[in-house]
Parts: sequence; C-alpha cells; structure tokens
Amino acid sequence: MEYNWHWRVHVGLWAARVAARLPGDFVECGVNRGFLSSAIMEDLNWNSLDRTFWLLDTFSGIDTAIVSLEEIDPGSKERNQKFFESGLYTADVDAVRKNFAEWSNVEIVVGSVPGTLEKITAERIAFASIDMNTAPPEVAAMEFLWPRLVPGAMIVLDDYAYHGYLPQYLAMNEFAKRHNISILLLPTGQGLIVRPPE
Ligand SMILES: C[S@@+](CC[C@H](N)C(=O)[O-])C[C@H]1O[C@@H](n2cnc3c(N)ncnc32)[C@H](O)[C@@H]1O
Repeated sequence: MEYNWHWRVHVGLWAARVAARLPGDFVECGVNRGFLSSAIMEDLNWNSLDRTFWLLDTFSGIDTAIVSLEEIDPGSKERNQKFFESGLYTADVDAVRKNFAEWSNVEIVVGSVPGTLEKITAERIAFASIDMNTAPPEVAAMEFLWPRLVPGAMIVLDDYAYHGYLPQYLAMNEFAKRHNISILLLPTGQGLIVRPPE
C-alpha cells in the first residue's frame, strides 16, 4: 500500500496556508524528524510570522506505558519496535533541534502526550497536526486542543483512515460524535477537521 507522503505533505501545507490567515499558534503532536512541520515553516516563511509552532514528541517512539494502550490499540508495541528498527522513528532529539535551529518561535516539548499538553500555553490555536500513530494520546490531544482552536482552525489527522489504524478511526469518530462535528476522509487516509464556531 502506497503511503503517498507527497500528497500528505500537500494536504498539510494547504491546511497550514489556510490556518495562517487566522489568529493563533500552530501545534504538532508527533513530530519525529519534523518533515511536515519544517516543510510548513519553510512554506510560510515562519520567521516572518509572529506565532509559535509547538512541537510535541516523546522522541522515543510511542509511549507504550499508557494504561489503556494495549486494550485500545493492540499491536502498538510491535508497531513501535518495527518503526525504530526500520529507522523511521528517531530518538536523536539533538539532531531534531538542529533541524529546527533556523526557525525562531519554535517550542520543542519533549515527553509523552497527554502529560506534556499543559506546556502549551497558547490561548488560541489555528493549526494542529496530529500524528502519533496510536489512538489514546491522539484523542487526549484533541480534547485538550479543542477549546483553544479558533473558529476555522485546521486539524490534520495523519492516520485517520489509513489501513492498519482502525483504532484511530473509531476513536476519532467517537470524538467527532461527542463534539457534533464531521471529519473529512481524504484519499490519502488522512482526516481533516475544520473547527466550527461554538
Ligand atoms: C509518524 S511519526 C510523526 C511524523 C511527523 N509528523 C513527520 O512529519 O515526519 C509519529 C511520532 O509520534 C511520536 N509519539 C508516539 N506516541 C507519542 C506520545 N504519547 N507522546 C508524544 N509523542 C508520541 C513518536 O515518537 C513519533 O516520533
């Protein structure tokens, strides 16, 4: 199955451009080496904008200690190991910091979501990319961000309906039901939410 990275970036860049017209900070939960977030910063000429990009990651893969993880997302431990062994995930935070060194207004928050969410002090958020490859922290991040997301804010769910990620699909659909919103399923498998006004 084709991962279609170029289309995923295309969607992320488009959503970020729309969000750049709104007031508020940007957030990514699940940053890894920062492919998407640094592409966005490049595209928007981030240093010319007066807003912060919050980048949250364990930088040590999926947090397999999350209590409900095995129940909600069976197989996540194996997936984590596979991603590290294949070199997809990085644990080299210093290299990641170097990658972002050219950008001002970047906050790299190291640690496990949801525990680190309170470090986001932004009152208004215009863009969120949710890409942690497992459902429990992704839903927790959405619940935390939701009241802070401004009307029209763009939220990209990277693995929403991608094959192999059914727990995320089910959990995000539950989230959508709770908040009376609808998620646009994209051909890449990503989900797109536009934050409606209250
Ligand atoms: C697919 S990668 C993110 C890719 C990234 N968006 C990009 O543009 O390259 C998923 C990331 O989620 C992180 N992650 C998984 N569970 C996490 C958690 N509970 N808290 C913080 N980060 C987590 C992993 O460490 C990994 O770097």
